Amino acid sequence: MTLQFSLGTAAPETVDAACVLVGVYEHGMLTSAAARVDSATGGLIKRQVESGDISGKAGSTTVLFAPAGVTARRVLVVGLGSQKSFDAARFQKICIEAARAVSKLPLGDAVSYLTDVDVPGHDSAWRVRVAALASDYASYRYTATFKPRDKSKQPELGSLAFAAGEEAQGGLEQARAIAEGVRFARDLANLPPNICNPSYIAGQAQAFTEGRDKTSCKVLDEVEMERLGFGSLLAVGRGSVNKPRLIVLEYKGGHEGDKPYAFVGKGVTFDSGGISLKPGAGMEEMKFDMGGAAGVLGAFVAAVKMGLKLNLVCVVPSVENMPDGDSYRPSDVLTSLSGLTIEVLNTDAEGRLILCDALTYTAQTFQPHTLIDAATLTGACVIALGKHATGLMSKHDDLAAELLAAGEETLDRAWRLPLWDDYQAQLDSGFADVANIGGKSAGAITAACFLSRFTDGQRWAHLDIAGTAWDEGRKGLATGRPVALLAQWLIDRAG
Ligand code: BES
Ligand code: MN
Ligand code: ZN
Repeated sequence: MTLQFSLGTAAPETVDAACVLVGVYEHGMLTSAAARVDSATGGLIKRQVESGDISGKAGSTTVLFAPAGVTARRVLVVGLGSQKSFDAARFQKICIEAARAVSKLPLGDAVSYLTDVDVPGHDSAWRVRVAALASDYASYRYTATFKPRDKSKQPELGSLAFAAGEEAQGGLEQARAIAEGVRFARDLANLPPNICNPSYIAGQAQAFTEGRDKTSCKVLDEVEMERLGFGSLLAVGRGSVNKPRLIVLEYKGGHEGDKPYAFVGKGVTFDSGGISLKPGAGMEEMKFDMGGAAGVLGAFVAAVKMGLKLNLVCVVPSVENMPDGDSYRPSDVLTSLSGLTIEVLNTDAEGRLILCDALTYTAQTFQPHTLIDAATLTGACVIALGKHATGLMSKHDDLAAELLAAGEETLDRAWRLPLWDDYQAQLDSGFADVANIGGKSAGAITAACFLSRFTDGQRWAHLDIAGTAWDEGRKGLATGRPVALLAQWLIDRAG
């Protein structure tokens, strides 16, 4: 069930809802909504602050059941942390925690007054958008591959209203579209690789564009790619019975003749490492190695749903990287679509080998205004930046600044790493134009250096989402990043 969002301006003590959400800062500082509930209930919140039952600690939640004096059946008091250091990232965090707490309660609707709190540098439309996306994120459940169960009798949160006036309507509409894109990406990436293989992704892309105005989808199979010379991409896919696909989506929301913006997303539906086989522990996480594909497709969905006035193409090279008698091997020399030859030194550095052909194809076919790829490309990026920031690499300072700003605005944040030519020598090969790995140091950067050899003359940026595309651990789910970042970047371009 997807969550329905709306706006409202009723007072928290008299609003008709199963639950109202109000914020309390550390040291008992009440927000104005909390203060209204407090006085309507004869000081209930303040008493619980004094007793220590409500701490105000960021992200903490306390349920007050059936308090006398307010119309709502429950009040959820949400801790906001210290008021002095309250900022955008904290606002998002408390919105996620609040939505988690609400979605565990047996209730169907709620009204949140968290959107009333002051967030330095941001307006009401921004607060509503972030709160709606955070709530949709927290209420996401993965159900695709469980045995179908009887619907539980317990009511589930179906509608959530935010305290805000008409001025926030645009923010809410953007949130709805971006939430759809995020869900599209998460659903696709969470599926197991025995279901989500290259032709499955192609089918999902086709299903989205089917009968939808201004959109189209074309899928190249292995025969067509062979004819066109995708020697690098096809080598990676050769060890699998699940044959490679190149998925090409177009959205024409802009003027005819306007150069399109282009996204390319790594779609490795399972990365075993191939002949350079990965160790067993944690290999199951490599079903998420199509997170870049999911991310760019999700951003495409969001752009179409918003009806952005721009042209967009989305290209997804999709393969499965498996060991087999017919697999490509270390020391093979491949001829890429660009004509550059590549010495394979490690078959586990496969992402760059499918992206290079996809980038060449996209540049040649569409002459895009800007070219951005997203990929779960390197473990080295996770070491450098951890699970919080996406790695951003670009030679174009203006484009890098645009992407960093879009990340800040949506809190789907990126951090820039250098892409200086000093690193290029690490890719020297004695047998081909370029080697596919650059040695121990600066692995995220040398991977981007490899891609840079295939994006000459393009206004290009690379997003390494290896750390941000999914949450680690046995129950870790796809995050849907960087859908919000890319969607915001497009919103900013559309003006
Ligand atoms: N898909 C992996 C990168 C990855 C690793 C993402 C761990 C998320 C978590 C990629 O194809 C890969 O295997 N990269 C190698 C490159 C190396 C062989 C140069 C890596 O990072 O170890
Ligand atoms: Mn790999
Ligand atoms: Zn990979």
